[in-house]
Amino acid sequence: MAPNEKPIKPLRTINGFQNMKPDLTDQYILITGAGRGLGRHAALHLASCGAIIGVADIDSNNAEKVAGEIISNGGKAKTYAGDMSARATFMAVADDFAKLGGRIDAVINNAMLLRYSPIEEVEEDTLDTMLNIGVKALFWSAQAVLKHYDKEIGATIINLASPVATRGFPNTSVYSTVKGAVTVFTKSMAAEFGPQGIRVNAVSPGSVPTPGALGLNSEEEYKKRAAWIPLRRNGREEDNSHAIAFLLSKEASFINGEIINVDGGVAACN
Ligand SMILES: NC(=O)c1ccc[n+]([C@@H]2O[C@H](COP(=O)([O-])OP(=O)(O)OC[C@H]3O[C@@H](n4cnc5c(N)ncnc54)[C@H](O)[C@@H]3O)[C@@H](O)[C@H]2O)c1
Repeated sequence: MAPNEKPIKPLRTINGFQNMKPDLTDQYILITGAGRGLGRHAALHLASCGAIIGVADIDSNNAEKVAGEIISNGGKAKTYAGDMSARATFMAVADDFAKLGGRIDAVINNAMLLRYSPIEEVEEDTLDTMLNIGVKALFWSAQAVLKHYDKEIGATIINLASPVATRGFPNTSVYSTVKGAVTVFTKSMAAEFGPQGIRVNAVSPGSVPTPGALGLNSEEEYKKRAAWIPLRRNGREEDNSHAIAFLLSKEASFINGEIINVDGGVAACN
C-alpha cells in the first residue's frame, strides 16, 4: 500500500453481500488483450465467476499463460493468439470460440497499444496501429457478437474507455482520440443493438499501473498521482474487473450505453 493510501473498509456482512462475485456460470466471454494487465485480471476474475473465457492476445506466450492459470485454478479457457485488429482474425477467433458452446455471450474489448507522444512526433505506423486495435477492432467485435449471440438470451459488449476521452491532456492526442471514439461508439452500439437484446457499456479505469501503463508513467509518477486522486490511491486491476463482472451480471440487465468511471473520483472533479 502507498504511504498515503487508505485501507478499504470491509463491507458489512449483510445478506451475503460481502462477496460481490456475480454468477457467470456458462457465460462464453471473449476478452481481447487478455494476456496481461487489466485484460488478464478480468479473464481470471470472470473465470472464477464461472465464465468460459476466450483469452485473445497478440502476445501468444502471455495468452497461453493466462489460459493456463485459469485452467489450473479449475476454470475453463481457450487461447487465441493473433492481431485482433484484423477483421479476418477477429471473425476466425469468434467463429472458433462460438463452437465451444454454440454462442458468444460477451466480448470485452480491452486490447490496446498504450503510447503517448507530442502531436508533431506522431508516426503513421503507430497512429494506424492504435486506431486499428482501439477503434476498428470494436466494429469487428460488434459483427462477431451479431453473428454468434443467442437471440433468446441476448449478449453484452464491454469496451475499455478512459478519463482522457473527454478531457484534453498534452501528449495523449492519439490515445484520447481512440478513447473518445470508444466512448461515442459504445453509445451508438447501445442505441442500435438495444432492440436486439445486446447491451453495450464501457468501463473507464483511472490510473492503474499495469505493465502497459508503466511504459507511459513511472512508479514515482503513480505515487505522486495518488495524492490528487480523491480516494488517495491509484486504481487496482481488481477494481476494473469487479465493474466488468457487475456489467455482465443479470443485476445490470437494464444498464445500456453507460460509461462507468472506475477512477477513485477523478472524472467527477476534473
Ligand atoms: N492502465 C490504465 O490505467 C488504464 C486506464 C484507462 C484505460 N485503460 C485501458 O484498459 C485496457 C487495458 O490496458 P492495460 O493497462 O492493461 O494495458 P497493457 O498494455 O498492460 O495490456 C494490453 C494488452 O493488449 C494486447 N494487445 C495490444 N494490441 C493487440 C492486438 N492488436 N491484438 C490483440 N492483443 C493486443 C497486449 O499484448 C497486452 O497484452 C486498454 O484498452 C487501455 O486503454 C487502461
